[in-house]
This record gives sequence, structure tokens and C-alpha cells, in this order.
Amino acid sequence: MDYNLSEEQQMMRQMVRDFAKKEIEPWIPRMEAGEFPRELLEKMGELGLMGITAPEKYGGAGMDFLSYIIAIHELSKASAVMGVILSVHTSVGMNPILYFGNEEQKNRYLPKMASGQYLGAFCLTETSSGSDAGSLKTKAKRVDDHYVLNGSKMFITNGGEADVYIVFANTAPEKGTYGISAFIVDQDTPGLSIGKDEKKMGLHGSRTVALNFDNMKVPAENRLGAEGEGFKIAMANLDVGRIGIAAQALGIAEASLEAATAYAKEREQFGKPIAANQGVGFKLADMATATEAARLLVYRAAWLRAENKSCGKEASMAKLFASQTAVDNSIEAVQIFGGYGYTEDYPVERYFRDAKVCQIYEGTSEIQRVVIAKHLTN
Ligand code: CAA
Repeated sequence: MDYNLSEEQQMMRQMVRDFAKKEIEPWIPRMEAGEFPRELLEKMGELGLMGITAPEKYGGAGMDFLSYIIAIHELSKASAVMGVILSVHTSVGMNPILYFGNEEQKNRYLPKMASGQYLGAFCLTETSSGSDAGSLKTKAKRVDDHYVLNGSKMFITNGGEADVYIVFANTAPEKGTYGISAFIVDQDTPGLSIGKDEKKMGLHGSRTVALNFDNMKVPAENRLGAEGEGFKIAMANLDVGRIGIAAQALGIAEASLEAATAYAKEREQFGKPIAANQGVGFKLADMATATEAARLLVYRAAWLRAENKSCGKEASMAKLFASQTAVDNSIEAVQIFGGYGYTEDYPVERYFRDAKVCQIYEGTSEIQRVVIAKHLTN
């Protein structure tokens, strides 16, 4: 692995940093008040960030996977909300179409998704199938030239805002995971309705909703891949998607470290900066070491993906470790800030609230261990 970023990657990183400073930071109070940052997504589309890895012939920026991970990492340092919106849109919204769609589907959806005109979402989880994704109950029945879908989905990131939903449903329940098929569903499809909007501990401004399918008619031409191929499509895209969430966690971990370090150097008690106390210095040392280890895992997994090498195990390791580091660092950052850290006047309480979900979505930390163990023992 080459540890030096190319000139193009460095320029992209600077562009995202500038965008975060100028556009995202002023928007944070609006997101914290619950507003979805659609306006920012349009601007990100203009900068090429919404289709960063999509080929130029589909309107994308045609950049490599590492560039995409740099973008998620840098966005998430400013706002984990922007990181997850882009990660879900790209990894599990657009990529299923890019890698499993036919030419007609690619031409119909990718240019609009790459420009930011269309936002993507991924609909796998249901009320009774979270970690056990293969046990999903939503059914799809073929009727002439379309499928009729009935069921519901839960915890759908970007739901209610997305224009394109990748929906997993069972076309042959007796076949278990081999009976699951994937569909591209437009937001205005009759029979699709938005259910409960979750009130979350963190990630305020990112929408998470339930979806209901009531005799939802999806044209057969919108089936993604073959019948029964859905579970593989979901798993393959999650493999890669998890690197995006790992990069989001890395952003939160790094932001927590930087805020805590700056504060510890500036805050004086007992006549000296609190950083001069070994108790605080050791906390910062541990936070910095874990952040560096997380960075290496995340960038290595991304590099493997960029080189088209197998990366499932490394993606799970990166997500497992980076999300734990985000949680640990944000807790320690609040502690170093003391009473101020517990208030909304400083960002560390937001980092703390945003970090936790990185250990839950796109596969819990326990599921990441299941995936890693399977790689080791199979
Ligand atoms: N790539 C391709 N195919 C894969 C695969 C992968 N990574 N993983 C499994 N498969 C295939 C298997 O090869 C197998 O097919 P074969 O028998 O032909 O080999 C088939 O799928 C079934 O595999 P398993 O028996 O391993 O499946 P399982 O039912 O035991 O489940 C699991 C495995 C890893 C636990 C899986 O259910 C899982 O990942 N669960 C977590 C679900 C998850 O991550 N949900 C996230 C929702 S999306 C989200 O959170 C987005 C957001 O909001 C941010």
C-alpha cells in the first residue's frame, strides 16, 4: 500500500475541507434542529461528490475508491450526518445499480444520482430482521410485467428524502436467502408510503424512517439482477459500504481528538493547562494511538477495494475498530471538556451522540465479528 495520496486525491481532500468549513459548519445548527440538508447535497453534486466513484460516462467524477473514502472521512469530521448521507447514497444506493444493474437501468438512474438530483437509499432491515437480514418478510409476487410488493422496512437512512430506493423482497420464500430479489423503486411508486420518522439520539438532520409497501407495483424491468440474487447483492454492497461507515467513524474519532487536544492545551486549572497533567496527557495519547490505528485499517480496506482485491474481512475490521474508537474518543473528549463538554456550546457532545450508531448500522459490531470469524475459519 502506498501511503502517499496522489495529487488528485490531495486536491479533492482540500476541496472537501474547504466545503466543510464554508458550507457545512454554518448548517450544523439547522441539522441539529432536525432540518435535512438537501441544499448541501445539491452543492455536493456540483462538486462531483455525489457520484465520486461513478464512471464519467454515467455522469460521475470517475475517481477511485480511496478518494471516496477521503471524502467521507473529511465530511464526517465536520458532520457525521453528511458522511452517512453520502455513504448510504453511494455505497448501497448507487453501487448496487452500478455493479448489478443492466445498461438501461444504469443510464436511467446513475446520471441523476451522480449529479445529486436523485438521492439513494437501501431498504433491507425490517422490524423482525435486523442482524438476521436473510429472514426478511417483505414479499414480491410476479404479476405479468410487474411485481407486487407487500411488507414494510425499518430504519431506512435517507428514507423520505430519497428518490431511488433499493428494496429487498422475497420472490420465493421457500428458498430462504436464495429467494430474495432486489428492486429499484422510484419514490413516487403507487403503494409506497413513508412511515414513522425516528427521533434519534444523534445524527440529527439525517432522516431515518419506516417504509410501507401496500400492493406496491414495481415494473419487472426494475428488478436488479436475477430473481434470487438479492441477498448476494445486499451482502456484496454492504461489504464495501462498511468501509464508508468506518470512514465516518474515523472522522468522528479524529474530530474528538482534535477538539480535546486544543481544549486541553488552552484550559487552565491549578495555574497550568490541563494538558500538563499526565491523567489528561495519557488520555490524549491513547486517543491519538487508536485514531492512527483506525486510519490505517480504514485506508487499507479502501486501498484493497480500489485495487479490486477482496476486502470483506478488512472492511469489517475497519468498521469494528473505527466505530469503537469513535465512541471511546468522543466519551474521553466530553470528559476532558468537563462541564462544558456536556453542553451544546461545544461540539463534543454531538460527537458522542453521533458516534454510537457507527457500532450499530450496516452491521452491528457483533455482526462484524461474525463476518471476520467466518473469513478466518472458512
Ligand atoms: N458477498 C457475496 N455473497 C455473500 C456475502 C458477501 N459478502 N456474504 C454472504 N454471501 C452469500 C453467501 O455466500 C451465501 O451463499 P452461498 O451459500 O451460495 O455461498 C449466502 O449469501 C448466505 O450467506 P450466509 O449463510 O453467510 O448468510 P446468513 O444468513 O448467515 O447471514 C450475515 C450472514 C453476515 C450475518 C448477514 O445476515 C449480515 O450481514 N447481517 C447484517 C445485516 C446488515 O448489515 N444490515 C445493515 C442494513 S443497511 C444499513 O444499516 C444502512 C444504513 O442505514 C446506514
